[in-house]
Amino acid sequence: MASASSGLAAKLTSLSKNNFLSSSDLNSNQILSLFELAKELKVGNRRIDLGNRVLGLIFKKASTRTRVSFQVAMARLGGQTVDLNPQITQLGRGEPIKDTARVLSRYCDALAIRTFSQQELEEYAKWSTIPVINALTDLEHPCQALADYLTIQENFGDLKGINLSYIGDGNNVANSLMICGAMLGVNVKICSPVGYEADFEIIEKAKSLSEFGSKISICNDPLDAVKGAQVIYTDVWASMGQEEEQVKRKEIFEKYKVDQKLVEFAHEEVIIMHCLPAHRGEEITEEVLEGQNSHVFDQAENRLHVQQALLAVQLGGL
Ligand code: CP
Ligand code: NVA
Repeated sequence: MASASSGLAAKLTSLSKNNFLSSSDLNSNQILSLFELAKELKVGNRRIDLGNRVLGLIFKKASTRTRVSFQVAMARLGGQTVDLNPQITQLGRGEPIKDTARVLSRYCDALAIRTFSQQELEEYAKWSTIPVINALTDLEHPCQALADYLTIQENFGDLKGINLSYIGDGNNVANSLMICGAMLGVNVKICSPVGYEADFEIIEKAKSLSEFGSKISICNDPLDAVKGAQVIYTDVWASMGQEEEQVKRKEIFEKYKVDQKLVEFAHEEVIIMHCLPAHRGEEITEEVLEGQNSHVFDQAENRLHVQQALLAVQLGGL
């Protein structure tokens, strides 16, 4: 046990004090080692006490899972979080990020940031002297992808060669699933309406990071996309910040609803995933979301375990 633990520590120490801004900030070895640690934390085989460390939470968008899982993760690590909602700090009155980041670095040990632009997140990282974590931007949701692939690994064992079909908007969640999946050997197919495909640069980046024979592809036909799929994943059609497009998108995406009929075209042992919150009756039906193949609450739970592992490593707790 002692040597297994120290082996894990050796694989993960390179992550200490590092930012996590994109799924591509971790390599496949680091991701798989984080999963090992997350699983140990999950079953109670390991306790890590960081001793009064503080994670600052700067959230410009709403959140249930990300916020609470970070809060609970820090509590379980013997630390705490402080809410730095821009509406109650000087950020909301225009204090520049370069000043805010340097000041917060003197008080906190890490920052988890949920905002719109990836550039803004990178600006925080540039001026902070503590690790910065992407808690969702318009471009990526890397903590979500970690929890998702941990959930898939728990279900199927080996991730290599797993076929994941994402049906819906080519958004932040799709982008991180592609990058992280590519490194883990998962075949990721992103199926969206024309004009709503995933970011071209991210597709190319994912392809360039592909390991263990992973294939990254995009398509527009949901029936074709789910054939042979062991994982069907979906997310809302209009993300936070796109509320005014909601009505228009409902029409455009109608064919991309994950319903029982679509699920029947997939692999017989297919699992259904959604990062939540879900819009029942839009991107997924109540029947599929609540069905026996649905793993949406396991995914939500794994946010806690994998982020606890990530924080433990970034804050030097191993
Ligand atoms: N999946 C996810 O990030 O949920 P929240 O928006 O509730 O944090
Ligand atoms: N794509 C969604 C994910 C929410 C967790 C959004 O950005 O709103």
